[in-house]
Amino acid sequence: MASRYHAVYAGWKQDPDGFWADAAAAIDWFSAPDRIFDAEAGVYGQWFPDATCNTCYNAVDRHVAGGRADQAALIYDSPITGRKKTFTYGELKAEVEALAAVIADQGVKKGDRVIIYMPMVPEAVFAMLACARLGAVHSVVFGGFAAKELATRIEDSQPRLIVSASCGVEPGRIVAYKPLLDGAIAMARHTVERCIVLQRPEQGCALVEGRDVDFADAVAAAKASGRTVPCVELAAADPLYVLYTSGTTGQPKGVVRDNGGHMVMLEWSMGHEYGIEPGEVFWAASDVGWVVGHSYIVYAPLLHGCTTVLFEGKPVGTPDAGTFWRVIAEHGVVALFTAPTAFRAIKGQDPKGEHVGKYDLSKFRTLFLAGERADPETIKWAEQKLGVPVIDHWWQTETGAPISNNPIGLGQLPVKYGSPAVPMPGYDMRVLDDAGHELEAGTLGNVVVKLPLPPGCLPTLWNADDRFRSAYLDEFPGYYKTADAGYIDEDGYLFIMARTDDIINVAGHRLSTGGMEEVVAEHPDVAECAVIGIADAMKGQVPCGFVVLNSGVARGAGDIESEVVRLVRDRVGPVAAFKSVVVVKRLPKTRSGKILRGTMQKIADRQAWMMPATIDDPAILDEITAALNERGIGI
Ligand code: COA
Ligand code: AMP
Repeated sequence: MASRYHAVYAGWKQDPDGFWADAAAAIDWFSAPDRIFDAEAGVYGQWFPDATCNTCYNAVDRHVAGGRADQAALIYDSPITGRKKTFTYGELKAEVEALAAVIADQGVKKGDRVIIYMPMVPEAVFAMLACARLGAVHSVVFGGFAAKELATRIEDSQPRLIVSASCGVEPGRIVAYKPLLDGAIAMARHTVERCIVLQRPEQGCALVEGRDVDFADAVAAAKASGRTVPCVELAAADPLYVLYTSGTTGQPKGVVRDNGGHMVMLEWSMGHEYGIEPGEVFWAASDVGWVVGHSYIVYAPLLHGCTTVLFEGKPVGTPDAGTFWRVIAEHGVVALFTAPTAFRAIKGQDPKGEHVGKYDLSKFRTLFLAGERADPETIKWAEQKLGVPVIDHWWQTETGAPISNNPIGLGQLPVKYGSPAVPMPGYDMRVLDDAGHELEAGTLGNVVVKLPLPPGCLPTLWNADDRFRSAYLDEFPGYYKTADAGYIDEDGYLFIMARTDDIINVAGHRLSTGGMEEVVAEHPDVAECAVIGIADAMKGQVPCGFVVLNSGVARGAGDIESEVVRLVRDRVGPVAAFKSVVVVKRLPKTRSGKILRGTMQKIADRQAWMMPATIDDPAILDEITAALNERGIGI
């Protein structure tokens, strides 16, 4: 079948408002949009300025009303705890309504923020939808972050309530969440009035008298009293959530998502990009703490009337490298979305793909990969072992949905290895040099999006319009800066090669090396430091720290290195995978004092490098090389 992509993309370019008006017809509005885009409102304009809606209504209630009450909405599959449970749309509605009543009882109203700090349990999804129902703005914080990161998010979003759990379960260990929660609340300058805490059977926790509410007891009471909570009518531009993501400093950016534009974009993407029909089973093997989890575990599949899988486990080790195929076969999954690193982990343990043959994957149609650059070897391995199209697609927390994709629903385009394919409607992509001049096809530069951004993208940063402008809009006026470097080839395919800032991608998790440097610098014996991302065969990149000690420090370097590793784990969290630190005598710098991180990275990755013309003292690079070789760091 010839792809309809080129005609659809051209149709959007010719009449963007008409295109989004048609897409908006797939959503149930309280008051449907008369105007599609207001260029004068907001920082760069506003989508559906006069419409009103509710996201929970579209994700849950309308399916119950429309005949899907008995269809599975959510399948919880947790190989790490040995539990499985399916919730129909009818059951999902009952859970969400009861929890919404409990949340409302804590004084939460439309516009209030609620932090959700939970592992991959169904209650995390119920909490997101309950907030959406009430018009409260949720902010999910990934469980692998430490108390300090949670505290930063509490201070910035100023939540009225936190919904949390007693623990998470990681391979070989229980992660007690409650000490992290209590520690963060104690650290933050904002006072959190109430917490709702889910007691998990693996490990309970003590509740704080007068502050903490037992999740299960409160929900049971709300159900027993037959409380129902209606979906609150919200402006399309009202925020649905704030999701914090790494910026270039330790202060994360609060990416805001609206209700109306977000629904329109996600609903459009499910059919046209992912090629999924309502009623089918879609699985994003991510975490609700990341944007992929927000968009493609929770909102998009439910908006589209699909069954979504909530998987609490790892691609390997829970119990083996066949767990993904077991889930696909058991639940009839038609499309899986995950990060390339998960496939590198599987391939590492089962290079011949022997586990694949043990399962019936006859319903499985497509594998989607995103979160980091998908290396051609991994794509080819997956294609060969699974016998389905493997689609690399590119997006960011800021966009909430793919910027570029190979739109299966419109008819697949030829795959070009190393490319996340072509821009989706709404995205007018350009590649600019540092002075803002447009570059020819095939030339590497700054990848930018001509404004306005499409529906569903961030309208701003939480309480920080100026930071939004300076981080994304000021450098290339009229464009949104993706902070990715890449090029567009003669056929219009994008190639995304690297970040232009200090963000690194560790096992598909986005982290700021600048943020880690701020933590390392706090160690009392450290005079100065640099953190860079170095290549890792499984995780793509891992951080590596270089520290120069204060003069006169007599303690052994090994002790200090261990303390620095511990400090980053305690402050940023285990997810940073910060395990390598080298004490060095000096850091390589330019004559103006800028640390040569790029050159250090090339040395660590054993790539060819050129002596920077502006280097202060070339001998320092030999010292760095020797230190890395001595420690066996790098590939
Ligand atoms: N709560 C507490 N700790 C967590 C956590 C959570 N929710 N998630 C991860 N961690 C911890 C892990 O236990 C690990 O700790 P350790 O240093 O004590 O071993 C550390 O954070 C790093 O975790 P992770 O990144 O999961 O690495 P891993 O080595 O355990 O597993 C992979 C490697 C590739 C299997 C895993 O990273 C993975 O599945 N990645 C897919 C990523 C993904 O889905 N990204 C979303 C974008 S689509
Ligand atoms: P996050 O906001 O965590 O989704 O991370 C977004 C960043 O991950 C992007 O800016 C890219 O640097 C990188 N990324 C995501 N998907 C891809 C992809 N398919 N190819 C290359 N890089 C990607």
